[in-house]
Amino acid sequence: MTNKLKYFIGNWKMFGSLNSINIVHQIDTFCKRYRKNYKVVICVPSTLIYYFSNKIKSKYISIGGQNCHENNKFGAFTGSINASLVKDAGANYIILGHSENRSEGETDQEIRKKIISAAKKKLNIIFCIGETAQEKKSGKTFTVLKRQLKNSIYSKNFMNRIIIAYEPRWAIGTGKLPNPLELRKIFIFIKKFLEKKFKIKKPNPVLYGGSVNKANINMFSSISEIDGFLIGESSKSSKKFIDIIKNYYK
Ligand code: PGA
Repeated sequence: MTNKLKYFIGNWKMFGSLNSINIVHQIDTFCKRYRKNYKVVICVPSTLIYYFSNKIKSKYISIGGQNCHENNKFGAFTGSINASLVKDAGANYIILGHSENRSEGETDQEIRKKIISAAKKKLNIIFCIGETAQEKKSGKTFTVLKRQLKNSIYSKNFMNRIIIAYEPRWAIGTGKLPNPLELRKIFIFIKKFLEKKFKIKKPNPVLYGGSVNKANINMFSSISEIDGFLIGESSKSSKKFIDIIKNYYK
């Protein structure tokens, strides 16, 4: 087990209420007690960002948003919020390119614009990539990942704001997990790609996401290339989320 910084990032998706602040408070209390080199981010629905970021004044936990409109200027986009509004509400992180948004038609090019927009507003970006079950079956995983990275990361300038989250779509919310050997190869591939394309010595953090829970987290802790986790279902309960962190360091 290295002492490298690890991320545990919760993605609440369409979940939560003002009372759910208790979940974050409990996680924060745990983080204060249990000190290892990790960082927690909880990405909540837009309506909760302001309240949560005002209530959680912790150096261990940050609040994030889950998506934004690509346009940085205000305008006639009913129902949308842009990076400026997300930042203004108090978020420091934002998830972009999540497969649930991609499956509603979000393209690599749109994600690229959103990344630029969010980076300009000084948000840290959790940029999701991942192949579908069909793409995996036809042996296209590496091609797809390369395409998503190449098309959406615009320039080296914003690299320090980007955290990659590798989330195979077929593993999200399904309980299916990648084979550890294949997973390690994918992580090495992503890091090598970033190093080569952007001529950087230290590649960006790369997280794994998809059905992570307290029972399977140990399988991932043996893969040192994994810099943390994007956690959906198991981030909506403080106990489940805390158990993931505890078991990771066991
Ligand atoms: P899951 O979701 O942990 O519920 O599979 C992960 C995600 O969608 O980011």
